Amino acid sequence: MDLKKIFENNKNWIAERLATDPDYFKKLSNGQNPEVLYIGCSDSRVSAEELMGACPGDIFVHRNIANMVISIDLNMMSVVNYAVNSLKVKHIVVCGHYLCGGVKAAMEAKDLGILNPWLRNIRDVYRMHKEELNAIPNETERYNRLVELNVEEQSYNLLKTAAVQKAHLERGLRVHAWVFDMQNGELIDLKVDFKSKLKEIMEIYNLNE
Ligand code: CO
Repeated sequence: MDLKKIFENNKNWIAERLATDPDYFKKLSNGQNPEVLYIGCSDSRVSAEELMGACPGDIFVHRNIANMVISIDLNMMSVVNYAVNSLKVKHIVVCGHYLCGGVKAAMEAKDLGILNPWLRNIRDVYRMHKEELNAIPNETERYNRLVELNVEEQSYNLLKTAAVQKAHLERGLRVHAWVFDMQNGELIDLKVDFKSKLKEIMEIYNLNE
């Protein structure tokens, strides 16, 4: 993509916005009050706001390779704590996607240097669900299933944080696990039963005393 084109696009975008609402940028400058924290993959094809039809101000966004929620990732944990405690979002979405390069890489026997420790967390998900995954003979289906299981496990990682536990108990903050299918554009809710999962997680990860 031509970088000059980006600045042309920006000028057109400003004109379009002002044509619909002359106060658009004044309103945008007044502050943000998003109700959703979206945690997704950095993949260029999974453009968070666009696929949800969301506008600036609607969604607080964090993206990294393979939408990982890692407890010692200061970046991720800062985003979660700020979104939950300051912005007081009502929902946190972990959104993965089929054909995820990060998940694919974690299924291969290969040294990827600095990416190894990051992808190690996906290999852990594979190990946790080894029996189910190894029972799937078709490689593409196994890969797709690992994408789903990884989203689920990353959403469980959110439930293991003190901020999410507290906000859930105090004001009903909810966590969701979604997958984007770029082959048809569909956004799929994996419909995880977070109520029973939270109960199970709180047996061991309770940080609320
Ligand atoms: Co990806």
